[in-house]
Amino acid sequence: MTQNNQQKKIEVLETAPVKARKKQNAKHPLKVVIVGHVDHGKSTLIGRLLYDTDSLPEGKYEELKGICERRGTDALEWSFVLDSFQAERDQAVTIDSTQIWFSTEERDYVIIDAPGHREFLKNMISGAAAADAAILVVDGTEGVQEQTRRHAYLLHLLGLQQIAVVINKMDMLGYAPEAYDKVVREVKDYLGSLNITPRFIVPISAREGDMISERGDHMDWYEGHSLIKVLDSFEIAPSPVSLPLRFPVQDVYRFNERRVIVGRVETGVLRKGDTLRFSPGDETATVESIEVWPENPDKVEAKPGESIGITLDQRLFIERGHIGSHVENPPMLSNVFRASLFWLAHKPLKVGNTYKVRYGTHEAMVSVQSIDKVIDTQDLSDDTQTGEVVRNAVAEVTLRARDQLPIDPYTDNSKTGRFVLYENYDIVGGGAISMEGYADQRRDAPKADNVEAVDHIITARMRAQKNGHRGGIFWLTGLSASGKTTLAMAAEKILFDKGIRVSVIDGDNLRVGINKDLGFSPEDRAENIRRTGHVAQMMAEAGNVVIVSVISPYRADRRRVRDRVENLYNEIYLSADLESCEKRDQKGVYKKARDGKIKGFTGIDAPYETPANPELMIDTQNNDIDFCVQQLVEYIEAQIANGDLSDDVTSKEQILDYVL
Ligand code: ADX
Repeated sequence: MTQNNQQKKIEVLETAPVKARKKQNAKHPLKVVIVGHVDHGKSTLIGRLLYDTDSLPEGKYEELKGICERRGTDALEWSFVLDSFQAERDQAVTIDSTQIWFSTEERDYVIIDAPGHREFLKNMISGAAAADAAILVVDGTEGVQEQTRRHAYLLHLLGLQQIAVVINKMDMLGYAPEAYDKVVREVKDYLGSLNITPRFIVPISAREGDMISERGDHMDWYEGHSLIKVLDSFEIAPSPVSLPLRFPVQDVYRFNERRVIVGRVETGVLRKGDTLRFSPGDETATVESIEVWPENPDKVEAKPGESIGITLDQRLFIERGHIGSHVENPPMLSNVFRASLFWLAHKPLKVGNTYKVRYGTHEAMVSVQSIDKVIDTQDLSDDTQTGEVVRNAVAEVTLRARDQLPIDPYTDNSKTGRFVLYENYDIVGGGAISMEGYADQRRDAPKADNVEAVDHIITARMRAQKNGHRGGIFWLTGLSASGKTTLAMAAEKILFDKGIRVSVIDGDNLRVGINKDLGFSPEDRAENIRRTGHVAQMMAEAGNVVIVSVISPYRADRRRVRDRVENLYNEIYLSADLESCEKRDQKGVYKKARDGKIKGFTGIDAPYETPANPELMIDTQNNDIDFCVQQLVEYIEAQIANGDLSDDVTSKEQILDYVL
């Protein structure tokens, strides 16, 4: 067909008004990203899309014809269109040229990033380029290749739902349906394993113009829509107005007494009179005014994408990186999160490495706590045992910060739920935030008012004197079957026989009593540990030696107990790796977990965070029980020995004097 058809098109083009590249009044274009393996025809497709939709900028077509004539090519090389955009970009003629616009009768489109563009992957990951839809270009003569897989994985990672796959270069396959079917099977196999179902798979020839805007007359056997029809059927992502308010603070300006908090509304709507909560600080205040330039006293609300300043009715400690939200719908707070990560740097990511994380305006140092999964995008095989994430690999990692970060999981908010990692000033990776397996550490304010803890008259010293030893909490943490209960019970017996006031708090026992309303979600475990900690505290403050035996897999939960009872708390880590614990499996729980009968089992599909600085570590993997028990008993005895009690003189002592 080609010559004739092209001739026809050229005539049409020459009589039709040429549209400007960027429509001035274009309000809501559909944002498309075009991905695929190198040389599979992305640039040609873009050139063709522009041409077929009469969207080439003025003079471009002539330029293209000229180039082709000069080079002596017969058919038009549509990819030259893109090359010439690229040339403009390289000369920085216009920044907008990273965005290529075209229009169908239905609506406007913007191709948000050009393939081959150096920053492409970074933009995709950082969310600088949030696409509504994607076209994955696969060369029909080559089938699925390395970058096809990688880009498909990236789309999966970013949760993009509207995906059209085009099987390109059908002309070189003689437009044969069998050839198309073969590639379709390959594509479906791979995407299916990622749980991606492409909405459409269209056979095309970008070069010859088949099944792009017109069906052409070579592929009557194909019953689906042409690519343009497919694109027209896609939907523009809903405006983030309906999501909870997120107002990342960019800066705080001071004008004499007034403080203006500046930032951009990312999602939701901010209104004058709203009470805002700023995270991670967790202070609240009411919006007195919304400031814009030029001034507009009538401004009462700001929507996503608007950069504004606000003034508040109170002075709060707010700084760049804090996130404003409505009181009832704040981001989570956590010093640990999981990430689906795309790694870009030459230097691999390893456990213990430290990077700067950035999302919105928030920046913090994070270290890699664990590499939970490394996926080879080539065949989706599990490369976790390598212990590192190499360039272009995809991984699931757990990142930990020193302080609490305001966090939105990507599934809740795709705008604020993405992050980028920096090493020095280079972007080294990025991806999507998940809180799966981790609890929101935001603690709501106490519900009861007018309550104040009272002091005791009997002091710890008096109790210690009477009992002949101090009280204390000996917190055994470790995987299931690491020996916690066994050691606790044996140590209890020995100490009891020596006349020590000792008792064991076992997780399982509390879980059939005071904690019977709790399961094993991260939130429930946090509450389990909070209550267990309180019970232990009461008993220890009553002068007892309390041996606690709970998995307590999260550092943050253990840390909270420690913070409350610093002087009584001893963390004892029973070290045994998963393999040894699984071998013991006295209760058969590991087997059940492996069989999928217990979900979220610690060590299998829920995390265990090894203590960083325990007071004592007992290696129960390489030592027999007696040795471990002895180690525990000796440690406890040393800690509870009375010795000099003078450090225990407290204000309570004075209360006693006063009362008596
Ligand atoms: S913790 O994580 O909240 O500290 P805890 O020590 O109280 O756990 O409870 C552990 C006990 O619950 C063990 O006896 C274990 O066999 C059982 N259990 C049941 N489901 C789970 C699970 N998903 N993860 C860990 N332990 C579980």
